[in-house]
Amino acid sequence: MARSAILNVMVQAAMKAGRSLARDFGEVQNLQVSLKGPGDYVSQADKKAEEIIYSELKRARPDYSFLMEESGAVDGTDGQHRWLVDPLDGTTNFLHGIPMFAVSIALERQGQIVAGVIFNPAMDELYTAERGGGAFLNDRRLRVSGRTKLVDSIIGTGVPHLGRGDHGNYLLQLRNIMGEVSGVRRMGAAALDLAYVAAGRFDGFWEDGLNPWDIGAGIIMVREAGGYVTDLNGGQDVVESKAIVAGNEAVQKALIKALKKPV
Ligand code: IPD
Ligand code: CA
Ligand code: CA
Repeated sequence: MARSAILNVMVQAAMKAGRSLARDFGEVQNLQVSLKGPGDYVSQADKKAEEIIYSELKRARPDYSFLMEESGAVDGTDGQHRWLVDPLDGTTNFLHGIPMFAVSIALERQGQIVAGVIFNPAMDELYTAERGGGAFLNDRRLRVSGRTKLVDSIIGTGVPHLGRGDHGNYLLQLRNIMGEVSGVRRMGAAALDLAYVAAGRFDGFWEDGLNPWDIGAGIIMVREAGGYVTDLNGGQDVVESKAIVAGNEAVQKALIKALKKPV
């Protein structure tokens, strides 16, 4: 599998940050038992990973803009390109010693996502995608699942929690979905949820309240694996839309319909 120069830059940045997170994850597991807990340590690990990504990407493409979860927006002079960076997706998992977290980096050109990298260092899984070039897990080409019916499907989701999201609306959505599918999963890292859809492990995924850095890389991963990602109304402009629905063609459409079913 030949990667473009820019995808190589993204992979190097993600893997370097991922290795830093993996070292800190080992320490987090030790700190679980301490009285103070690993909270401050995790936020340092998160910031450190973002600094690594920022400096790697900035060195390779000094003029590009950034939107990063921890440091916010940094405008570049280029005007055409923007990096979307989540240095640690699945922070709560990381904090609790659960090895389901990832680095997520996407590249936008003129507002369109053209490349994405998601790296889970704990499982050594590197997901990459480029527009028109397909999606890969390590060296294996990815394809969304072939299941066409909700009744056979496993659906990933994000559950709102204390201080986050519209709990009442989410319960209505979940009620509609849980009665029609063979399983619902809440993995705790939206970038990995989308990577799992691309890999055919999940047949579909939906979540409300996401940000561009959570989903940028995942969107292109699913699309390049032959899947569909839209907002709740079927709109294609999803990066800023907060609520997204992903899956293979049949499951994605069925999910949108089921989510909207009147109570
Ligand atoms: C979170 C994870 C989680 C999702 C949240 C995100 P973070 O990102 O992706 O799965 O449900 O909405 O904020 O905070 O771990 O980077
Ligand atoms: Ca995130
Ligand atoms: Ca994060």
